[in-house]
Amino acid sequence: MPRRKEKYVYALGYRWLTPLYDTLVRLLVPELEFKRRLAGQAALENGHQVLDLGCGTGTLTLLLKSSQAEAQVVGLDPDRKALAIAADKAARAGLVIGLNCGSALALPYPEASFDRVLSSMLFHHLTSEGKSRSLREAFRVLRPGGELHVADWGEPDTRVMRATSVLGFVLEGASQRMRDNLSGRLPEFIRRAGFVALQQTGRYGTVFGTLRLYRTRKPATA
Ligand SMILES: C[S@@+](CC[C@H](N)C(=O)[O-])C[C@H]1O[C@@H](n2cnc3c(N)ncnc32)[C@H](O)[C@@H]1O
Repeated sequence: MPRRKEKYVYALGYRWLTPLYDTLVRLLVPELEFKRRLAGQAALENGHQVLDLGCGTGTLTLLLKSSQAEAQVVGLDPDRKALAIAADKAARAGLVIGLNCGSALALPYPEASFDRVLSSMLFHHLTSEGKSRSLREAFRVLRPGGELHVADWGEPDTRVMRATSVLGFVLEGASQRMRDNLSGRLPEFIRRAGFVALQQTGRYGTVFGTLRLYRTRKPATA
């Protein structure tokens, strides 16, 4: 049976803002700094199969490919407009990446098919159920011992950041889905999906609140 078409939240909340995504994100958050760090901590090796979940306009996907030319890197996102921007950027950079239209809630890949799964600023777009489902899907498609690397909004570090993070996400139209993130529950969702050895590897104060980076893995015996 074909799946009912899922609704999803656009990169900046509204479809018409997607062409402005790269410019606005670069202005408002230390985008290249945290994405380079996330790509670096994934330590890609020759022959690795790598998935960027909710890749949007492909900035992280391309950084991953640049970090290891011999890895097969695929970005997945339901938004064809964002994927078209990613494809254009890949062509201009002369980098070959895969770009698939699909949802993190039902990944179109067999189990144990990736060495690394990464995700940047995706989970705050998902409901609690969506977070659980997509993390179970990431677990399923990772090989035993494979790693998940995540960057997303977490519990704000200061009261000022708490105020600005709420404002930012009301503007983005994603405030309901943000609640788990802002209350610091993302690590709990990650662990509940079966991941082990979860570590916070970095944090960045931004006008939208605190962006947190994590590393975790699927047990080698799973
Ligand atoms: C804030 S953007 C982040 C894009 C990119 N990862 C980055 O760091 O710039 C969130 C992305 O998640 C995508 N998204 C929303 N729901 C999704 C889902 N169910 N599965 C996969 N991607 C989803 C949106 O289309 C959007 O491109």
